[in-house]
This record gives sequence, structure tokens and C-alpha cells, in this order.
Amino acid sequence: MKKTYTIDSDEERYIPISLDSLVPGSKIPFEIYTYDGTMYKSLLDKGSTYSYFAQEMIKKQALSRFFIRQANALSFNEYLQSAAKLRNMILDPTFFESRYKEFRDKWFIIDKMVLGSGLPLKVCIGGLRFPVYGELPFSIENESSYKQLLDLNADIAIRKTDIDTYYTYLDNLLDNPEIQDVLIKVRIRREKLKVWCFRVFEEIRNNCLSKDTLLKLYKHITLLIGLIKNDFTVAGKMLFFDVSDIYLYIHSTNVCLMSMMHGHVMNMDDNSLFNLGISAILHDIGRIYIDDDAKEDSHDELQRQIYRSHVLKGKESLEPYMDIPSVAKIVALTHHEREDGSGYLYGLKGDKIHHFSKIIALSDTFERMRVRGYKYPVIKRTQILQEMSKNPQIYDAKLLKDFLKFVAGLSL
Ligand SMILES: [Fe+2]
Ligand SMILES: [Fe+2]
Repeated sequence: MKKTYTIDSDEERYIPISLDSLVPGSKIPFEIYTYDGTMYKSLLDKGSTYSYFAQEMIKKQALSRFFIRQANALSFNEYLQSAAKLRNMILDPTFFESRYKEFRDKWFIIDKMVLGSGLPLKVCIGGLRFPVYGELPFSIENESSYKQLLDLNADIAIRKTDIDTYYTYLDNLLDNPEIQDVLIKVRIRREKLKVWCFRVFEEIRNNCLSKDTLLKLYKHITLLIGLIKNDFTVAGKMLFFDVSDIYLYIHSTNVCLMSMMHGHVMNMDDNSLFNLGISAILHDIGRIYIDDDAKEDSHDELQRQIYRSHVLKGKESLEPYMDIPSVAKIVALTHHEREDGSGYLYGLKGDKIHHFSKIIALSDTFERMRVRGYKYPVIKRTQILQEMSKNPQIYDAKLLKDFLKFVAGLSL
């Protein structure tokens, strides 16, 4: 699991501890070792988070003997004393939020299925899982470690600083003639779009979106339109990943793919599909300026208002870029408007709402219901479609009918 081993024959310097005394979610203020009969191996770094992810990884390796250095005995005792407090903290939802934010700032969620091709990805892999987020840098060294990773009930991530390496890795996978599996290929293409979506968001956030980055995003969208048109069934496999919409780049990628597929079943021409794809991937760009505490269903009216302001912020942030089609700016502003006037920001009705906003509203609603935040179990596709058909008045009737038919008909 770790590459660096400590070889030390002097057993006197280590004292045994029980792994059960560690509290998931806590930061470990000392290094933890395991002993395999010949040497002490470093298992958890000082300062790392002991997450459920870490706990599960250790269990899977069937390790049983754990140690700390004798020099850390005092800090271990202090840690034990605060363990009761920590156990209570874990029950506090704000604790999860803070851990999640910390994780999200440093890590980028990847599709672990693309790692199964046999080519090694030489970066650290981390994991994140509700209820306690945490990281356990891990590298895939062989098939069994890859299998362990696939078995984990966790979102798999790489450090944001490794995104370039990951992108090159994805390119190499596509170029590799040995990889013929169309399902893997389609997932790789989706990953490439996701990486580029993330880059565009980062550059917009930093007010430095370059034409090159934008054109590359357009290229990915064009490639995916080709894929949707060539093999609609295979393209459908890019949807419904078990990941959360709390990561804007994942939500936006999913909404983009779904909206373009919807557009295709409506016989849209290439140019319209292209503009629809760009509008969809950028629809929620205003959310990069919104604090995580502001949620659409927040109990606090002020927080709800802040959340709603993402549509205005989105339009404003896209406004300076001449290479972004004006329809994408309209969609950023109006994707929460609803057919019967019950939406926001302006309460527009029917014909006053752009056609693309109406299409994207369907995929957007579907995606948000599918994941409903990271705290809840993923609900079934048929349940979501039933839920959506309970409020037909808020959608365009023809679009809703096409959408329900197209989503229900996808073979997963
Ligand atoms: Fe939105
Ligand atoms: Fe959205």
C-alpha cells in the first residue's frame, strides 16, 4: 500500500496499539506501522485522516498488528482522551461538510473503471466516502490492488496537481490498440470531457479563460456528438455514474451528455447540438461563486436567495467571452425558469423561455434527483421519471414526453 518501508529490527522502539482505538474521521497525530514478522512498514502517515476508506483498505489487506513509535506514546494517550469527543463530532453534519470541502479542494474525482485497462497510472489515488471523508494515498501497483480499488464503496480521486498526468494517461489509453472495449473507450471520452470541463471552470474562476482552453472544450463536445450519432446505445453508457452532483464538473458533464442525447432524439442538426452542448456544460457556471452552504432547498430564505443568484452570476461571468455563444449566456440565466412561471429568476412562462433552457432543465432536474446530494442513497431511474411526470405543468409537454421516452429506453 505504501512504497516507503522502514526497516528496523529494534522492536523495543515500537509499542502495539489496537486499530479499534482509532476514530474514523480523525487526523492521526503520529505515524502508524504494521509488522509483518520481519520489518515495520509505515501504514498511516502522521497528519493523515483515518477515514472509513482507510479502515476498509486496511481490513482488506488482512493486517492484524499495529504499532506506534514509543516516542509517540504521550501523543497517543492524548489522542485517546479526545477520542470520545471526536466520536461525538462525527455525528455532527457540519463535521462532514468541513471534511468534504477540504477533500474537494485538493482532489479530482475520476472514473475508476478506466483504470482497469492494465496500463498503470503513476499517481497517488485517494478515496472519499460518506459519512467520513478522508484520503489514503494509494498507488496501483498490480492487478490485486486494482481489484481492491474497484471493490471499494468510495469515490476515487487523484490530486488536482496530477490532472495533466491523468489526461495524458487517458490519451495513451485511447491510442493503445490493445484496448478495444467500446464501453471503456466511451468512458475515457467522457473522462476527457470532464477534465476539460474542470479546466474551463478553473480558468473562468480565475478570470483567465483562454481561447485555446475553450476551443479544446468545443472539440470534445464535437467528438461526443459524433459518438452519440454513431452509436446511441453505447453513448448511453456514459450516463448514470454513481457519483455526486456536489462536484460541479461531474454534474455539468452529465447534464451536457444527457441534453445532447435528448437533442439527438429530437433530430436536432449538428450546429444546434453543438450549441446545446456548450450551453449545458456551462449552465451552472454561476455556482462556482456560490458558497456551499447556500442550497436550493435550504431552510433559510437568505441562503435560498444566494443559491438562486447563481443564474445571474453565471450569465455575468460568461458575458465577457465573445467566443461563447450568446445562447449559452441565456441558458445560464434562465435554466431554472419553468413552463408555468413557477421558476426563477424572473418567473418567465412558455414562449418567453429559450428552447435550450427547457431541454437542459429536464436533464438538470433528472441529474439532481438522481444523486440528491451525497448523503442519500441513489434513487432508481424509473422512480425519478415517475417523480418528474407528477409535475408535467412545469415542463414543455412535448419535451417532457420525448425525455421520459428517451431516458426510459436507454439500456444501461
Ligand atoms: Fe442551476
Ligand atoms: Fe445544474
